[in-house]
Amino acid sequence: MSILRRGRFTSPMDEHVMAFTSSMQWDSWLFPHDLDVDRAHVVMLHRMGHISTDDAARILTGLKEIEEQGFDGLPEAEDVHEAVESALVARVGEVGGRMHTARSRNDEVATCLRMAVREEMLAMLHALIELRDVLLSIAAEHRRTIMPGFTHLQHAQPTTLAHHMLAHEQAFSRDCERILDCLSRVNVCPLGSAAFASTSFEIDRELTSKLLGFDAPLENTMDAISSRDFAIEAVGCASMVMLNLSRLCEELVIWSTSEFSLVQLPDAYTSTSSIMPQKKNPDVAEIARAKSGTVVGELMSLMMIVKGLPLSYNRDLQEANPHIMRALKETLFTLKVCTGMLEGAVFNTERMRELSPAGFACATELANTLVRCTGIPFRHAHSIVGALAREGKEHPTPSDIDRIALEVVGKPLSEMGLEPSDVQGALDTFSCVQRHAGTGGPSPESTKGAIQRARGLLEAHERVVREVEERVHTARLMLKEACNTIMGAE
Ligand code: ARG
Repeated sequence: MSILRRGRFTSPMDEHVMAFTSSMQWDSWLFPHDLDVDRAHVVMLHRMGHISTDDAARILTGLKEIEEQGFDGLPEAEDVHEAVESALVARVGEVGGRMHTARSRNDEVATCLRMAVREEMLAMLHALIELRDVLLSIAAEHRRTIMPGFTHLQHAQPTTLAHHMLAHEQAFSRDCERILDCLSRVNVCPLGSAAFASTSFEIDRELTSKLLGFDAPLENTMDAISSRDFAIEAVGCASMVMLNLSRLCEELVIWSTSEFSLVQLPDAYTSTSSIMPQKKNPDVAEIARAKSGTVVGELMSLMMIVKGLPLSYNRDLQEANPHIMRALKETLFTLKVCTGMLEGAVFNTERMRELSPAGFACATELANTLVRCTGIPFRHAHSIVGALAREGKEHPTPSDIDRIALEVVGKPLSEMGLEPSDVQGALDTFSCVQRHAGTGGPSPESTKGAIQRARGLLEAHERVVREVEERVHTARLMLKEACNTIMGAE
């Protein structure tokens, strides 16, 4: 019978109940972390004098062999934690039973989960940084590429492709900030909380926290094993990434239609039809758009599972794990594929330029020009240009403007300082864009500064990510060395 049941029960678990309650089907995600948690705990127990060097060495050697055998070599069990302990006892004998001193699966799983989430978030940060790098490269290449800008998906004002890409980049930059911020709440260590009430053994929570690369132990032991808000937050960050990605993908779907024809997606990232041989479909963008729904769905599931649970541990929490894992993995995968798609996308700059004046896109600039040249109130200028739009005069002559101005302001604007060249200048999409030269605007001058600042921020984020990874890596080396010392001293 199982190492857990042999005391309390006289029969093994019903086969269906085992299948129903076991988390083994998705616990491979936690397996490598579980081994590290086991090792750190054993090192600590040894240092605090609860396990002899000889026993600790035998346990650590057993764990090493279990690691080499891999997850698939584990016996059937309720979860990976029990499976590893059973495999250990099977290998090294009853001394393996000392590993679970001063510990519960509750603090064990919470610790593993935080390590797994940390790892996924770091990978997500790398993927986001790569995507931002691609967006910034496109922006740098297209500071002078004029394109139509939309509101309500109607032609609104001309902009540049650089400005558009910088808009997406800025959103993904915030995603990175959110993840980095969230990471500080993820990276705290529940180990030592045991079932929830801590333990009467003298333990060193600082040590295990340090050996596992955490910033500090999570203080209250009841909260430490009960809380999953860190994971909800992490999946919330992932959901935001996916929502931002889905908007970018939706644009690529629209832009790649023959009506828009603003972009050619790479062949390797598109598919064709089984019946219509001419088709080139943006399936990656569509699936990415759909996966945002999947990830938000995981977030909802996760929140509903945690809702209303009394403190402290409830087995419901186990059901949260696959949602966390799937949400984070789907997000990473989607990010990587979308980055590749964007990297290979070819923008049709001629078509962008051609479409940029469509729909009287320079109307706002014309109104602005009337204000600047004649001193009339903006609302009057807005009315004059609105009347021109109503008449379909997207290329108005100075006399068109004067005729309407007479009605609106009672005087022709040509007598108030408006020159034909002013009108010409306002209606030229490139000069229109060039005038939008303030901070954050679409002008080539503005985007030059924006790209530099965005690159600076990207590098700063990259440095923080590397620092966190460095700390985790150093901890791993420390743990490895501590294990080797014990095993060598045997
Ligand atoms: N597999 C469990 C989970 O993921 C581990 C904790 C089990 N604890 C318990 N009291 N049954 O939550």
